[in-house]
Amino acid sequence: MAADQCVHGAPPSLSAKVVGSFAYLTIRDRLPTILTKVVDTIHRNKNKFFEEYGEEGILAEKQTIGLLSKLRNELQTDKPVLALTDSLQDAESWNQYLQRHQGPQGDPESVSWFQSPWLYVECYMYRRIQEALWLNPPISDYDVFNEAKTQSYFESQQAVMALCTYWESVKKSMEELSKNQLLDNFNKLLKVSLWGNKCDLSISAGQNNSQKTSPLDSLSSLQPFILVDDSSMVWLSLISAQRPGLSGKITAGRVDIVLDNAGFELVTDLVLADFLVSSGLAREIHFHGKCFPWFVSDVTAKDFQWTIQQTMAANHMWMSKSGVQWQSYMKEGVWSYHDHPFWTQPHEFCDMAADAPDLYATLQGADLVLFKGDLNYRKLTGDRDWNYTVGFKTALQGFEPAPLCSLRTLKANVQVGLQPGQGEKLTSQEPDWMTCGKYAVIQFHSPKSEQ
Ligand code: F6P
Ligand code: MG
Repeated sequence: MAADQCVHGAPPSLSAKVVGSFAYLTIRDRLPTILTKVVDTIHRNKNKFFEEYGEEGILAEKQTIGLLSKLRNELQTDKPVLALTDSLQDAESWNQYLQRHQGPQGDPESVSWFQSPWLYVECYMYRRIQEALWLNPPISDYDVFNEAKTQSYFESQQAVMALCTYWESVKKSMEELSKNQLLDNFNKLLKVSLWGNKCDLSISAGQNNSQKTSPLDSLSSLQPFILVDDSSMVWLSLISAQRPGLSGKITAGRVDIVLDNAGFELVTDLVLADFLVSSGLAREIHFHGKCFPWFVSDVTAKDFQWTIQQTMAANHMWMSKSGVQWQSYMKEGVWSYHDHPFWTQPHEFCDMAADAPDLYATLQGADLVLFKGDLNYRKLTGDRDWNYTVGFKTALQGFEPAPLCSLRTLKANVQVGLQPGQGEKLTSQEPDWMTCGKYAVIQFHSPKSEQ
């Protein structure tokens, strides 16, 4: 099978083989730092493992650390990527993906950390961390990033309180809002969710990166940093999904949110989702999260439930009110949480229809899919060396299950859909504009649109 199932003639994948590139620096510096922190975290929790599992816990800690140190060594010495040896549900598809990249000759040396696509090997590192844990059963469910995620949630409490207070005040007067006021609030909360994506912990190699102030106060000063703003098309897609129901009452569409990070970003997504439902712009929301801890701060089912619980239990009236509402949306099925192994695989999304047809079909049932964050953008565009002016549709390479929108702050050097000269101008003014997290895009595509 060919290495890529997406469009032929797409530019090459970003890779650490370009010495000095962001991919190269990530693999050389950032990933080993993350692995070292994972080892430290496991080691720091040795006593906890002993209390819970006795000597078996201590042995598991030692063996897991051994496997992780071996992994770090493989990475740093550019060794071939190895097949997974655990028997988890997704191991076979990871191993098939490896074979696909080894090509028809099956050369085991041909896929390695510094020579192969960056997207592939970076995802692979997180799967190997899981393998190391899963091979040591007493601690296999231990989330090595949980401490960092929890800390980031607590450190953004002021911003969470400010956001929930604002939101509850809007909600109170929802019935009286004019269409323009509704649109204005939609724009605000969409952009708060966009800027919430600044707070991921993988770009900072696990270093705290939480939101200290409310982005609501800075939305207008942040606007010039949104390089592509298709928010009006997102709004129109919600309006055009509204249909008269049997009783003649207008029913809205289903919105899917492909989540990114836990902590403040997740709260911004929940507030946006609450707004969409309360305003009647969406009938139901499907959240998509990760099956296992991923890219340090990504949301798992546990993080999702924990965040709602914590918000409910907060000693702050508007926070807890929001949390209670979110919990009841979950109970009533207005909101639902889903995970699928494809989200924790290395594929470009244009592979989804062939490699995860069930997930593709699920997304086809949505009226709008919001993809949060940088990694989702890399996967949407295949993490390739596109010209800045290539259309978003071209870069999606046929991935169009439903109208979709990427809400992403730029943290990797892939960007499409810019105006002629825009990328070059930014490069001359600010060489690291693609990776510093200061810029953002709201980029929309509908299967019905030409561009
Ligand atoms: O480039 C930095 C990085 O670690 C990328 O590998 C990844 O795309 C991104 O950060 C994660 O960011 P996000 O949480 O927004 O997907
Ligand atoms: Mg993330």
